[in-house]
Amino acid sequence: MVRIEGVTKIYNEGSASEVRALDDVNLTIQDGELLAITGESGSGKSTLLNLIGALDTPTKGRIFVGSEEISRLSGEKAAAFRRKHLGFVFQGFYLEEDFSVLVNVEIPLMLQGVDKEERRKRAMSALEEMGLKEKADFLVTQLSGGQKQRVCIARALAGGAELILADEPTGNLDSENGEAVMRTFRELTKKGVTVVVVTHNMQHAGVCDRTVNLKDGRVTE
Ligand SMILES: Nc1ncnc2c1ncn2[C@@H]1O[C@H](COP(=O)(O)OP(=O)(O)OP(=O)(O)O)[C@@H](O)[C@H]1O
Ligand SMILES: [Mg+2]
Repeated sequence: MVRIEGVTKIYNEGSASEVRALDDVNLTIQDGELLAITGESGSGKSTLLNLIGALDTPTKGRIFVGSEEISRLSGEKAAAFRRKHLGFVFQGFYLEEDFSVLVNVEIPLMLQGVDKEERRKRAMSALEEMGLKEKADFLVTQLSGGQKQRVCIARALAGGAELILADEPTGNLDSENGEAVMRTFRELTKKGVTVVVVTHNMQHAGVCDRTVNLKDGRVTE
């Protein structure tokens, strides 16, 4: 379960360029929930995802993932938390372009200290699940946008992510690939994985369990 309690995020606090990106957000996300976050550009969606993902810390308020308060974690502790529990499917992919698909999927496992044989096994099984087995030895640069997106999901799967954070994962995909990504998320939630997905696509939001809309950093519904 993810609990977000009274979270406010102010960028550049006290300066002329101060921005109140999130304003007293309260939200509980259940285990195995597929949650859509919608809202206009600049409404705070990515900011919220970054905070849930321990990539940044709130100005005010607290965030719990399971029993762990992550809103005060920073540096190595935040990184360790991310490695252990999270899978990121972000725009820009955050894939290592110079490495093969297989190595990309193995990276979280390397960081967790999983030995080579086990790593390979889990990565190949995740790639197979995402229909990318035959692309294992390709360089990431040789893949299409939709395939890269699926590598990100395979990486989250292989790493044993309990919580997947996806920032407009279907944004640069055609409708068929976009729907496939949403179906994959749906399947994962059936196994107890929690998925939070930022989307502008109302059809994709429609397949989620619930939609939270942000407006000027506040939850409106
Ligand atoms: N690192 C930052 N420093 C300063 N201001 C920021 C920073 N990141 C975001 N902001 C501001 O915070 C507000 C919320 O931004 P955020 O990126 O969360 O919006 P978003 O809903 O994800 O928008 P989009 O749909 O365009 O991706 C915006 O006004 C943005 O300019
Ligand atoms: Mg954004």
